[in-house]
Amino acid sequence: MKKFIIGNWKMNLNVHESSLFVAKLNQEVPIEKDIEVAIAPSLLALQPLSLQIDHKQMKLCAQDCYWRDSGAFTGEISATQLRGLAQYVLVGHSERRHVFDERDRDIRFKVQAVLRNGLTPVLCIGETQMERKDGDTEHVINDQIASGLLNVGSDQIGDVIIAYEPVWAIGTGDTAQISDIEQAVKIIRAQVAHMFGKEAGKNIAILYGGSVKLTNARPILCAEGVDGLLIGGASLIAPEFSGMVKIAGEVMKEQTEKEAK
Ligand code: 13P
Repeated sequence: MKKFIIGNWKMNLNVHESSLFVAKLNQEVPIEKDIEVAIAPSLLALQPLSLQIDHKQMKLCAQDCYWRDSGAFTGEISATQLRGLAQYVLVGHSERRHVFDERDRDIRFKVQAVLRNGLTPVLCIGETQMERKDGDTEHVINDQIASGLLNVGSDQIGDVIIAYEPVWAIGTGDTAQISDIEQAVKIIRAQVAHMFGKEAGKNIAILYGGSVKLTNARPILCAEGVDGLLIGGASLIAPEFSGMVKIAGEVMKEQTEKEAK
């Protein structure tokens, strides 16, 4: 198993700034065994960065795409157009769901489009504060997984990554408790197992996102069933991001040694 460290830059940094920042990351981000690092810059920066990054050090992730491959869809970018530029695509990020009112149907079609084009979807799910207060977390997670992965083939599920990002924890400094994260991850694995079989539930990569920073990365990476981090704000600070990659490498090493015993 690998661990994933993905930095979501959201709508920050212009093309020039992105290039300067990647030059900094290039100096600082360590290459760790079995740690997959990716950054999700603005769409504008994907092309120049694809020529600049050291592909052994990090990969590129798009923040979104449209689900049709081509056609009269002004302003949109398709997964087909991302081929060769990005390897991963975020789908259904909470800001897409809640700021842009993206519907379950669009999200599901996007997951399929990304897979159809040979890229890896990072399906983002998570409950709002209100849903959490109402005790609906389990229900929301199950629904978002069932809907987002509907029509994904059992031969494709191995190429899907899930990111659990509770909406109330995003950009708030309010990280979920380890026990809450572990509980959510358990629910996700059970739902994937229900849809695709036990092995798929066990093997699917699940990331946590929501106010992750250098100081809380280790316990989250050590949480039962967590395979990596999806980082927003802290991914724009080079020492924070590179520090988290290093921690992931350490945790991976510790876990591998423990398993070997
Ligand atoms: P923050 O790390 O800034 O809370 O953002 C999380 C996120 O939305 C990553 O996709």
